[in-house]
Amino acid sequence: MEKENSSSVTEFILLGLSENPEQKSPLSALFLTIYLVTVLGNSLILSLIFMTPELQTPMYFFLGNLSFVDSSFVSVTVPLMVAHLLMEKKSISFQGCMTQLFFFIWTAVMECFVLAIMAYDRLVAITNPLRYLSILSRKTCLSLICFAWILSFLHSLLYTSIISSLDFCGLNKINEHFCDIPPLLALSCSDTASFELLVYTEGSIMAMSPFVFIMVSYFQIIKTILSIHSSSGRSRAFSTCSSHLISVGLYFGTIFASYFHPASAGAVETNRPIALVYSILSPLLNPFIYSLRNQQVKGALRKML
Ligand SMILES: *[C@@H]1O[C@H](CO)[C@@H](O)[C@H](O)[C@H]1NC(C)=O
Repeated sequence: MEKENSSSVTEFILLGLSENPEQKSPLSALFLTIYLVTVLGNSLILSLIFMTPELQTPMYFFLGNLSFVDSSFVSVTVPLMVAHLLMEKKSISFQGCMTQLFFFIWTAVMECFVLAIMAYDRLVAITNPLRYLSILSRKTCLSLICFAWILSFLHSLLYTSIISSLDFCGLNKINEHFCDIPPLLALSCSDTASFELLVYTEGSIMAMSPFVFIMVSYFQIIKTILSIHSSSGRSRAFSTCSSHLISVGLYFGTIFASYFHPASAGAVETNRPIALVYSILSPLLNPFIYSLRNQQVKGALRKML
């Protein structure tokens, strides 16, 4: 508002993974493969869920939503990264960068919420099995999912509008393969202290509350499972939760490592590999985690093949 030429930067350069020309082709082949496997695996899970009558339960509706969010999440960053590996010019326009940031934050936060809803689903299934379908009615499931989409949308809108109103005057090299919050803050010449405060308060609440909710739910779940007397009942109850627990560990583990490690300031360089891991690993592995560990999904897959 104060200055006409507030953003003199009209495009950003994404330095990406490697400037070594010999690594470009193998790296781009690797990431293209990872991308295709992720999208195909998640689409397979989605079509299995839609086509199999036994999988028409709340647990699988939420798993379908997780697959959809995972596919969108990788599509925001990986195709552009592969294109940049192959191209001489690694630039992205200011608007393009803000658009990518917006969809990245939206899908990343949505993934946290879906994982939390899935924990609630397991909590109800295990502590209140007889009323499971009446508590998680079609209408409740839809409201939970819609609420999560809207809240993550608003959160991303808030962050993206603040970051796009910052001043960028000159420095435009992003030391990562996509437009993410920490490298953009490092490039801005505005005073970002108050925004950083917001990231560490509202942002932590946004990411921490699903995590805390999941931990509290699992505390209850494990207490209930331990009170089951037959050991086969116990292992059956636990097997429905283990896939979800692995996804939770993978996703939140890499997020916390990426955003909340102590040397965050001035550590843009060391941030690179971990940001890469967290933006591709969990979407890639989720379909395998769920299809290999879940008898019902395996059965449906066998029938489809
Ligand atoms: C997401 O969840 C809702 C609510 O259960 C369900 O109606 C919808 O089909 C799910 N979407 C996908 C893509 O699985």
